[in-house]
Amino acid sequence: MDDLHDRTTERRQVTVLFCDIVDSTGLSERCDIEDLREILLEFQTISSRCIKNAGGNVVNYIGDGIRAEFGYPLASENEAESAVHAGLLLLRGIQELSERSTATIQEPLRVRIGLHTGVAVIGKAGLGHVHDATEIVARLQEIGEPNSLVISGETKRLLRGKFSLRPLGMRALKGLSRKIEVFLVLGEALEDDAAHRARHRNALPMVNRVAEIGQLLQAWELAKTGRGQTVEIAGEPGIGKSRLALELIDKTGLPDDLILAIQASAQHQNTPLYPIIRTLEQRIGIRKDEGAEANSARLREFLATTSAGDEEQYMLIGQMLGLPTHGTPSATVPDAQELRRKTRDAVVQLLTSHAHDDASLILVEDFHWTDPSTIEIVERVAGQIGNAPILLVITSRATTIRSSSLMIRRIVLQRLDDDDCRDLAGSVVRDKPLPSQLIQQIVARSDGVPLFVEELAAAALETGQVDPGARTRDVASGPAEVPSALYDSLMLRLERLGDAKAIAQFASVIGRSFSHRLLAAVASEHHNTLEPALERLRASGLIGLERNDDEKVYAFKHALVRDVAYYSLLKRQRRELHARVAEEIEFQLPEIANREPDYLAQHLSEAGHTSRAAQMWLKAAKQAAERSANLEAVAQLNTAREEIRKLPAGLLGLNGTIWS
Ligand SMILES: Nc1ncnc2c1ncn2[C@@H]1O[C@H](COP(=O)(O)OP(=O)(O)OP(=O)(O)O)[C@@H](O)[C@H]1O
Ligand SMILES: [Mg+2]
Repeated sequence: MDDLHDRTTERRQVTVLFCDIVDSTGLSERCDIEDLREILLEFQTISSRCIKNAGGNVVNYIGDGIRAEFGYPLASENEAESAVHAGLLLLRGIQELSERSTATIQEPLRVRIGLHTGVAVIGKAGLGHVHDATEIVARLQEIGEPNSLVISGETKRLLRGKFSLRPLGMRALKGLSRKIEVFLVLGEALEDDAAHRARHRNALPMVNRVAEIGQLLQAWELAKTGRGQTVEIAGEPGIGKSRLALELIDKTGLPDDLILAIQASAQHQNTPLYPIIRTLEQRIGIRKDEGAEANSARLREFLATTSAGDEEQYMLIGQMLGLPTHGTPSATVPDAQELRRKTRDAVVQLLTSHAHDDASLILVEDFHWTDPSTIEIVERVAGQIGNAPILLVITSRATTIRSSSLMIRRIVLQRLDDDDCRDLAGSVVRDKPLPSQLIQQIVARSDGVPLFVEELAAAALETGQVDPGARTRDVASGPAEVPSALYDSLMLRLERLGDAKAIAQFASVIGRSFSHRLLAAVASEHHNTLEPALERLRASGLIGLERNDDEKVYAFKHALVRDVAYYSLLKRQRRELHARVAEEIEFQLPEIANREPDYLAQHLSEAGHTSRAAQMWLKAAKQAAERSANLEAVAQLNTAREEIRKLPAGLLGLNGTIWS
């Protein structure tokens, strides 16, 4: 019972980082302890800074090592990526410290870092977080050479090719019965790789979206004739916005130099012009490892190839990119406000100028994450391309382009239908066809969101199952876990809801859809906050109102969001909440018990009320048989038998009756 009130206790996916100093015992024997202490203190300062900067939390210091977690509280859509970033930052920081330690204690400082992702029980203060990842990660780092970062296959799966890795094979770790796949992180993947990858995401055949591609191609044809167009592709995460934009690029056959891709970033929503600066740096060929002068020269060369480049533009863009331009624009610009305005105009001019008459494409990805300065620039570009051979395509999770005076086509992507999902799942598993029942489960749980179809199908390929606990109704069904690649982004959506998350967790026990009455009874201790919480859940799009006649019934819009909420509860919490639901149905809502005995039976089973559950499954089977639903009846009888097997022998009467 206490656990239900303690919302800090839950199951979470976390990535654990462990960084240990190589040969620390030897160091303490060979070096002056006071000097060594200074170095170790600095090591702690540097490592905790790198970890915090990347969004992680230092959990504790073990000996001379440091242990950190990413994923609680959740800060981004991909905590494994953040953890690898932290590891790389740490290696760089330690390299500098090592130079100092070589000077003071005549010894280099070297570390080994390991990373592993697993499920943890995030505990009450004092107990800490319980998981096996800590042990695994400590053993894992021992595999690496000094100054290396090694990660497990579980973590690697979440990195989406963003880092370049070298496989180190399957390794046996001390104290662990299974072998673990290990990879060495070489560094971030090159930009070229990223572009290459983006192209190859098209490897799976496109499913449907015929009308949408038609609309885009129509806009492209107009743009080619010099009547520039703006199209916004909107839709929920994972629905296929980026995929559609890539399909357009494929269909137009545009070469890379006629495509300008501006990618916004969740981590830089308040960094002015971040996506623009990144894009221009890439386009101009700015290299961080080269001198500023060389980069300034590149900027000058680049501007010379456009129809826009004059001296003022060179200075404004140069300053924006942090390059020395010999002469400052502020000399000719009266104040900061004016400088900002002029820079904005220079960027708009640069983006809309074209070196040749060929039509080109500007793709702004994830507009919902752009900073206000970038929004202003994109809106201006949209307003100015009317007479230019430019197609501006914007992808966004919300319809965000404001300017009402602009002619913007909007394509709002809807979910795929079951047949399309089946096709998509089929192309993920390709030559290893899955049983049709499994495909059916994937389709049902994905709710028509292509990203979910892909991840569920990939998970089914790996584990051979999607839904081991599935019974006749979706209560408590679902895999032991949500596919790890989806976990962070779904959890983050719940996390953003603050207190309403607890209500989502309660609701998740009732099932994919839940009546207001039942939820209010189950979550009685949240009486005062229930209404605002439901309102927040609705506003965020995570739940919708399914029925609003004699009673209000809500439903989770995604089965997987329900699953994330459900599996974040501790098993004990789940059992107890199922018991509450069952009790409420049995004593307050007998009409449900009569109409849907299987629903009640499911809750009783999950609550561990075995004999009542068995009785109810038998009742459900009888009712199904009376309606000639024979397959269901057989399945329910089997479940009843499973429950009966769990009962102590004494509780089963000779004639098969169950005594509760
Ligand atoms: N119509 C489709 N046919 C085949 N695959 C698709 C289709 N739509 C989407 N996908 C695949 O589903 C996954 C998710 O799609 P995508 O990345 O385009 O979503 P998104 O809407 O851009 O999401 P986000 O808001 O997170 O950027 C991708 O791997 C993509 O290739
Ligand atoms: Mg996208």
